[in-house]
Amino acid sequence: MKYLVTATALMFGTVCFANDIPALYQGADLKLGEKLIAQHECSACHQKKVGGDGSAIYQPAGKVNTLGALRGMVEACDQQLNIGLFPEEVNSVSAVLNRDHYRFK
Ligand code: HEC
Repeated sequence: MKYLVTATALMFGTVCFANDIPALYQGADLKLGEKLIAQHECSACHQKKVGGDGSAIYQPAGKVNTLGALRGMVEACDQQLNIGLFPEEVNSVSAVLNRDHYRFK
């Protein structure tokens, strides 16, 4: 019973987050963001620095502490790596990172 409640809460939470694209990330497409993150091997490189699955690089309590700062960091990585993302793509990537790691409102 307890398990059922937890599972339902988890499912509900996921659904809520899945539709929760901040207004600042206008035009974001979560599926596209996920694809871009995989395609550009963001995690592979972060893994080299922090180990594990690489997600420890994302620190909500660090210097990236707002939606705007998160997008700025994605833009900086994009420029440094010469990936050439469009603004909607930067928003999409930011929205996925926010949904999975930062959870800024
Ligand atoms: C060539 C290696 C490399 C690749 C590829 C890379 N990153 Fe990074 N990224 C880093 C390093 C190193 C840091 C830590 C920088 C620091 O702490 O100042 C970082 C930090 C970040 C941060 C800030 C984390 C935080 O909370 O402080 C974000 C967001 C980020 N990267 C997003 C991305 C995204 C999105 C991609 C793929 C499009 C990507 N990175 C690809 C090396 C990389």
